[in-house]
Amino acid sequence: MTAIIKTENLGKTYRGKKGRRVDALKDLNLEVQKGEVFGFLGPNGAGKSTTIKLLMGLIFPTSGRFVINGIEGKDIRYKKFVGYLPENPSFYDYLTGEELLYFVGRNFGMSSKELQARAEELLRTLDLHEARKRPIRSYSKGMVQRIGLAQALIHDPDILILDEPMSGLDPLGRILVKELILKLKDRGKTIFMSTHILNDIEVLCDRVGIIVNGHLRRIINIDDLMTKGITGYSIIFNKISEGIKERLKQFGATETGRLRYTVSKEKLTELMGIVRDDRDTDINLIEPQRKGLEELFKEVISEG
Ligand SMILES: Nc1ncnc2c1ncn2[C@@H]1O[C@H](COP(=O)(O)OP(=O)(O)O)[C@@H](O)[C@H]1O
Ligand SMILES: [Mg+2]
Repeated sequence: MTAIIKTENLGKTYRGKKGRRVDALKDLNLEVQKGEVFGFLGPNGAGKSTTIKLLMGLIFPTSGRFVINGIEGKDIRYKKFVGYLPENPSFYDYLTGEELLYFVGRNFGMSSKELQARAEELLRTLDLHEARKRPIRSYSKGMVQRIGLAQALIHDPDILILDEPMSGLDPLGRILVKELILKLKDRGKTIFMSTHILNDIEVLCDRVGIIVNGHLRRIINIDDLMTKGITGYSIIFNKISEGIKERLKQFGATETGRLRYTVSKEKLTELMGIVRDDRDTDINLIEPQRKGLEELFKEVISEG
């Protein structure tokens, strides 16, 4: 595996009002692998945008370094491999959507022929083709977000750094952007995206890093979370005998509703053996109980 984004003790301290120090990011050590969708999750003010701005060279680190696509962060040549969507993007709003794409594409050295075809394709994909000749000033919040994604993608970069890509989008816009991100992943692109929407992470990301108060607290593999994260089973009975009720108690099962119990992973097999020989007990359904991202997130936040 190759790390396409790598940070080493990357840190940022802002000088706030009256010289007050804000340690927005502390010693970030992170490796994002080529072709992976990495989610960066954390509450407001955790340091997500600070990290992203550091990676884009918009602010300078107080400590540490980073390497993108094998190129040292100090050397801006890495930027041609990266597409960037800022948080709450605002562009030259007297430009039309199409003009913005031409402007950005030209800066990446694209030929006019290549640029025209690419802009046309992206405007269609992001459902902005009809609005392409209108100034961005007249766009809705969701449309600005979508033109923001289009300009990030204009030069077909291998790496995408997206700061809250789903923000400001309506449900249709979100579906569109989710599908777009999955397509980019299929094409082997690497995506580093910040978000605070848990569901988007479960659908899109391979791994997620949880950041709190400038500290990367934990990295979670989403596949592991979905398959290995089973903590117990919820059993729904059609009928249940007093004897089995007693055994359930002994197993430390909890009653979660009428004819409904939760037992630990370890006790399930034993319980099944007993139930099989009990004529007055009949199981309707068994569901695995997972520790979801939501619980994990709460747990990490509360670790203090
Ligand atoms: N330019 C700045 N000057 C001083 N403090 C800042 C500046 N930008 C961000 N901060 C502070 O740094 C912390 C991290 O902010 P940010 O990276 O924007 O968080 P996030 O994107 O996770 O919501 C916050 O406490 C924020 O108030
Ligand atoms: Mg932010």
